[in-house]
Amino acid sequence: MSENNIQNSLFLRAAFSKSTERPPVWIMRQAGRFMPEYWEIKNKYTFLEMCKTPEIAADVTMLPVNLLGIDAAILFSDILVTAEAMGGDLSFTQGVGPKFANPVRNQADVDKLLTEVDDKLQYVADAIKVIQQRLNGSIPLIGFAGAPFTVMSYLVEGGSSKDFKLTKLLIHNHPDLAHQLLAKIAKVTVDYLNLQINAGVNALQLFDSWALALSWDDYKEFSHNYNTEIISKLNRKDIPIISFCKGSSVFAPLMAESKPDVISVDWNADLLDIKKVLPAGIAIQGNLDPHILYADKKVIKERIHRLFERMRGEDGFIFNLGHGIMPDIPFDHVKYAVELIKEFRY
Ligand code: CP3
Repeated sequence: MSENNIQNSLFLRAAFSKSTERPPVWIMRQAGRFMPEYWEIKNKYTFLEMCKTPEIAADVTMLPVNLLGIDAAILFSDILVTAEAMGGDLSFTQGVGPKFANPVRNQADVDKLLTEVDDKLQYVADAIKVIQQRLNGSIPLIGFAGAPFTVMSYLVEGGSSKDFKLTKLLIHNHPDLAHQLLAKIAKVTVDYLNLQINAGVNALQLFDSWALALSWDDYKEFSHNYNTEIISKLNRKDIPIISFCKGSSVFAPLMAESKPDVISVDWNADLLDIKKVLPAGIAIQGNLDPHILYADKKVIKERIHRLFERMRGEDGFIFNLGHGIMPDIPFDHVKYAVELIKEFRY
């Protein structure tokens, strides 16, 4: 496929709710640890070195393209690079996950955060250019960013959290300060996604992974409003926006008001039921429970077929998991699943 007809790729057609002969497939966290080839690279560098070296980021991005034959590539990076560029002292430790050594908890911490950070994120634009040369128009490249609420939760907690206690205390006791912080992250996110568009991505996904933690009213005020603002400020031409959160089986009708092209749904909902309540023209991505990929192959096959039978005849369906793939899922199960999906015809 040439650069010119990338718009005719299965993935972009489905993202714009046009008909396709089968659903395209890609997998959240596909550029990662379930592949032995990832570890060959990871053993030589830290995770942030991998993200910040365009050739290495491109090598990792290409692993699932070459080993699985998926229908879209996703930039190898992390949602927390925006927070790092704003001044977060970020590190990733094996088995611990991300840590910010200087959590953001008071007015002085919020005031210190930078909002003009494009220069610091130039390595991402460079990686996108290298990846597009390697893809050579074969399949689209998805760029991404973390949504303000989810990124804020890491800055406030200082890392991953089970209950988001400090983040929720901030939004409940000091809503003005929370809004200042969210507005700063939103500004950086708009610039960052526009930088990715200028560098040449073909689609964008906004990850609001932990929106699930919020009540309906808090989701509206502290998450949804910022996501709406971000989507409205993208110079997006023919670039579809995918809106993802855990909690989308509840929040999907609100997410639709932000006018994304695609909503990525967690595994709690029946996908067709969700699609039916959304306005026409919004495509849907999802929503196999990632744990199914641990199960026996006959279970994998049965569950994928069940999902397809449910979605048969629907335009605007992108196959994905309901959340990211786990690092210890057997590679051959993933390969088997992708092959099955690619055999399917509407
Ligand atoms: O999808 C892809 O393959 C592209 C790359 C990508 C990574 N992270 C690579 C990564 C993407 C899109 C992300 C997004 C991301 N990062 C999210 C949103 C998606 C989701 O799953 O909800 C979140 C919440 C993060 C934050 C983050 N990064 C955590 C919590 C961790 C460590 C914990 C864990 O999952 O094990 C990371 C590290 C990370 N990001 C790794 C990779 C490949 C592992 C790094 C390593 O090899 O040690």
